[in-house]
Amino acid sequence: MANHSEVHETTAQCKNDLSEQIKAATKNNHVRAENTQLMLSYQKGQITMTEYKVLLCSLYEIYQALEEELDTNASHPAVAPIYFPQELARVNSLQSDREHFFGSDWRKKVIVPAATHRYTQRIRQIGRENPMLLVSHAYTRYLGDLSGGQVLGKITQKSLGLSSKEGISFFSFPGVSSPNRFKQLYRSRMNSIELTEQERAEVLEEAVSAFEFNIQVFDDLQKMLSVTAEAVDQSKSRTVNFPSSPIM
Ligand code: HEM
Repeated sequence: MANHSEVHETTAQCKNDLSEQIKAATKNNHVRAENTQLMLSYQKGQITMTEYKVLLCSLYEIYQALEEELDTNASHPAVAPIYFPQELARVNSLQSDREHFFGSDWRKKVIVPAATHRYTQRIRQIGRENPMLLVSHAYTRYLGDLSGGQVLGKITQKSLGLSSKEGISFFSFPGVSSPNRFKQLYRSRMNSIELTEQERAEVLEEAVSAFEFNIQVFDDLQKMLSVTAEAVDQSKSRTVNFPSSPIM
């Protein structure tokens, strides 16, 4: 049986784990992300097809940047332990989801707000200048997708009345049989990364930024959609034929 000092040591060890520290550092940002208008409509089961389609466009740009930079830096000592392209890569599923809703010329139908460009620019910049910080971005997106994201997939299917999994492959991880076990593995890999105190602080700070980038994307998407809706409303009240939005 473990004596007191061993128990104490185990607890102290956990608190020093990057996986625990990153979760604690981003706790408030997670609450803010959950409470964005877009995520609230999600939780109420009120996500619309238009919202989902524009979200897919932004997610595609974000994962394309993230996965390109992870691939390029796969052998970097801070990236190698958390590099799981087989299990986690999302670009192909986002591609097929976009093709499902936008058709074969989906590549021409890119509607992304400025916040998405800022987020992808930041990912590309750290890929070039400081790949260690990719850990913060990979954590924020992939562990989120394997957590709340699993529920969001079911809500999307129900809200949009989709009869099959077509168009929602983004939420499925065929290479991950148990999201909870995989998250445990991912956390232990994060904890194996050797970081100085200064580097650790930078990783935590970047994770907070990663959440903020996501929040800004959600807020910008919502603004973009309300402007489109307003324009459609105004055109209706003036009984002018307003060209239908490319996203609807
Ligand atoms: C974890 C819900 C949005 C990133 C979780 C967990 C839940 C959850 C239930 C598991 C908590 C645990 O195991 O202790 C939700 C809901 C959301 C949402 C309902 C919105 C409707 C987001 C967003 C992001 C995100 C927008 C980031 C872009 C994460 C991360 C974790 C997580 C990184 C892992 C935390 C850890 O164990 O270290 N989320 N989430 N979530 N979520 Fe979310």
